[in-house]
Amino acid sequence: MTAMPLTEVGKRVLANVDADHGDYAESMMNVPVREYTDPERFARELEMVFRRSPVVVAMTCDIPNPGDWTTLDMVERPVVVVRGEDGVARTFLNACRHRGAAVATECFGRGRRLTCPYHGWVYDTAGKLVGIPGREAFEGIDATGLIEYPTAERSGLVWAILTVGAPLDIDDWLGDMASALDALKLGELHRHDVETRLPSGNWKATADGYLDGYHLGYLHKNTIGAKSITNRNTYDLFGPHVRIGFANKPILEQRNIPVEEWDMYAAFSLVHYIFPNISISGQPGNPLMVSRILPGPGVAESTVVQYQYFRAPLDTDAAKADAEAKRVKYRDVTYDEDFVTVIGVTRRFAALADDVIRFGRNEMGNQKLHHWVGRLLG
Ligand code: FES
Ligand SMILES: [Fe+2]
Repeated sequence: MTAMPLTEVGKRVLANVDADHGDYAESMMNVPVREYTDPERFARELEMVFRRSPVVVAMTCDIPNPGDWTTLDMVERPVVVVRGEDGVARTFLNACRHRGAAVATECFGRGRRLTCPYHGWVYDTAGKLVGIPGREAFEGIDATGLIEYPTAERSGLVWAILTVGAPLDIDDWLGDMASALDALKLGELHRHDVETRLPSGNWKATADGYLDGYHLGYLHKNTIGAKSITNRNTYDLFGPHVRIGFANKPILEQRNIPVEEWDMYAAFSLVHYIFPNISISGQPGNPLMVSRILPGPGVAESTVVQYQYFRAPLDTDAAKADAEAKRVKYRDVTYDEDFVTVIGVTRRFAALADDVIRFGRNEMGNQKLHHWVGRLLG
């Protein structure tokens, strides 16, 4: 099975513009505010949604070669994702088997060995413990390597389940989202090496912002929404994952051109939302912005980490300067407009405790998120 091609998405976006509304869910959906704020539910979300379901732990292009590694610190399961000498990406708990220190302390690195900075224990790229200074003091040690989590690599992304021994069927989890992601050619990207790390409010309220095309012409009317015809979105639902199409004003000029000849980039925008916490904004052939929502530590907070990816290596000062300008612009819009709003929403949750959050038929992506969180909590 494959996802509908982008030419079809373009036609649907234009049809939505003509119809004066976007794709509709069957009905509205009310989500009790307590589902956002209940600490006990939040703890179950971390467990069932983030530790017992597949999550993206790395981009393939972040660790292209044997020995490359990247770290991720999420839901109290800090990991290091390492590409082994055999080319296989593996996910390890980033905790030394001696006394628990982080064995990898940077976001990205490479080497044939990971050496714990605390007392110098050494691990190879398959996680095997291969060196202990003063080894005779540890005669009979019961640990042979780093703790490993089930891992799979698909569609330019590395996925793991942050629970030892849990079954991981990534094809089942992705369904047709795999072919939608394949079209983005994520494996061929090049990262702009400057991280953006921003505070936001409750993780689901933050995700709600990434999943809705409704707010673009209002909250972002003077910035990224200026080119948009807001609230005419297409939603492709692939299990828990969502592909959202956004109409842009130039789509009106494409009306009499065969869709195969459209300027796709001008006509519409795309967001691929990978459940539960990754948003990829951008089109095939163009730069992409990857945002990751890290829930917690408490129910009222999250952190959003953004990286920008380009189709060619950033090997000139001009390319780096251009990437940096894009990064700063996007950082400012997402913080000043999106996350400040979400922090404000989160502050109001206590007073709204007996009320509900109301999602319209046009907020189909949001409905899907809350449906799937509820489903995984059982
Ligand atoms: S904690 Fe890693 S070597 Fe001691
Ligand atoms: Fe936004």
